Amino acid sequence: MVKKRHAFVGTGGRALSFIEPLVTTYGEHNALVGICDLSPARMAYYNELLVRDMAYHAVPAYTADRFDDMLREQKPDEVFVCTKDATHHEYIVRALHAGCDVVTEKPMTTDAAKCRAIMEAVEATGKRVRVAFNYRWAPFRTKVKELIASGVVGKIHSVNLEYLLDTNHGADYFRRWHAQIENSGTLLVHKSTHHFDLVNWWLDAIPEQVFAYGDLVFYGKDNAIKRGDEKLTRYPRYTGVPEAKDDPFFLDLTESESFRKLYLAGEADSGYVRDQNVFRDGITIPDQMSLNVRYRTGQLLTYSLVCYSPREGMRVTFNGDRGRIEYHEFIGTHMNRAVSAKEWKIEEKPGAEAEGEWIRVFPHFNSSYEVPMPEIRAAHGGADEILNAHFYGEAQAPDVWGRTAGHEQGAASISIGIAAVMSMQANRPVNISEVVSLKPSATWLAELV
Ligand SMILES: NC(=O)c1ccc[n+]([C@@H]2O[C@H](COP(=O)([O-])OP(=O)(O)OC[C@H]3O[C@@H](n4cnc5c(N)ncnc54)[C@H](O)[C@@H]3O)[C@@H](O)[C@H]2O)c1
Repeated sequence: MVKKRHAFVGTGGRALSFIEPLVTTYGEHNALVGICDLSPARMAYYNELLVRDMAYHAVPAYTADRFDDMLREQKPDEVFVCTKDATHHEYIVRALHAGCDVVTEKPMTTDAAKCRAIMEAVEATGKRVRVAFNYRWAPFRTKVKELIASGVVGKIHSVNLEYLLDTNHGADYFRRWHAQIENSGTLLVHKSTHHFDLVNWWLDAIPEQVFAYGDLVFYGKDNAIKRGDEKLTRYPRYTGVPEAKDDPFFLDLTESESFRKLYLAGEADSGYVRDQNVFRDGITIPDQMSLNVRYRTGQLLTYSLVCYSPREGMRVTFNGDRGRIEYHEFIGTHMNRAVSAKEWKIEEKPGAEAEGEWIRVFPHFNSSYEVPMPEIRAAHGGADEILNAHFYGEAQAPDVWGRTAGHEQGAASISIGIAAVMSMQANRPVNISEVVSLKPSATWLAELV
């Protein structure tokens, strides 16, 4: 049996959730043939885990400058891109030109020029790019899609999506590379790509125009000083700082093996410091954003993202011809720690109310009712397991809910965030066509690859 050959670039916190199932559950038909990263220390830890915890063997490890050598020597069929967002395009384009298919983590990339480079490379090579939009694959979000498609509230005309990141998960973006716009494109690209993709997919619609506002109001040194929290700004990072012990934003990189071996050990060879003070100078992304999107279908999205909330989750409402659907998802918080899928857990904060997820339908002129939800508590709401089966399992019929996203649907999602950043900078509405040309004749998202 010839196994499908997979190589990974980017062995940080996320790649493990794809590598572990590849070499265990799906190992009969799939092989991991190489890994690549800036940090030899991080790759050494992945190889340690492969041998010690996954009964696999160590695989060839290539530093980032030897990515092309990995493709030439290991001949992967497919490359998984799990690096820092702003570097995705480099590896996607090079892998496509080397004849590989690609799966990339979200966001597909971070700005208009990089997005166009990916679109051109797909066009030139005819190879395939899939975007790992795991949000779509969570059963409770698929339930929302099913309900909308059933027409229970008629045609949907507008959507409100409020997303809250809390002072655990949300703050963590401000400790890391995400806090610089040149790395993440802002959280409107890095994080909201999930939410924009959900709305595009739920509505089966293609975005047309965006207007946005955004500001840094909570994180960063100046904001802390202004509200009387100057003492939280006195150290550049948290680990090993006795003075920081009582800081509610404290993070100790010695607390677990994965933190020590991935991040502390990888500092010297990659310069990546994972526990920077969230109240430091030099943060260049907003932590509060609000925007409107108009779709080619005429539908409207009103969206907000707040990154300093005491609770984490989202509230989405759909206004239709025959009523309204309300969807709530408040399931606690988590932090990206490179733990295996089996150990992944939602963290309940003391005193926090986790309401779970629910959908309620409010028909016009009738009583409202709750729609039963699938009960799932696996990684990312059960999405990762289903997504991995899709990536590595036997060839299947096309997904009935259209959950596979190619490069055009990946572009449709990031184009909202990228246009929003342009809108904030220029203080004007921005057409999606200024970012990327998405099949001008198409109306429905399903018409895009
Ligand atoms: N869908 C999800 O639920 C989800 C969750 C977490 C992360 N992600 C995505 O996965 C990707 C990785 O995130 P993470 O949390 O693992 O981040 P991380 O910071 O833990 O790891 C990033 C890795 O990329 C490497 N890297 C950075 N620049 C590089 C370059 N030029 N060449 C090669 N390697 C480079 C770093 O050394 C590091 O090992 C991001 O794109 C992120 O958006 C998705």
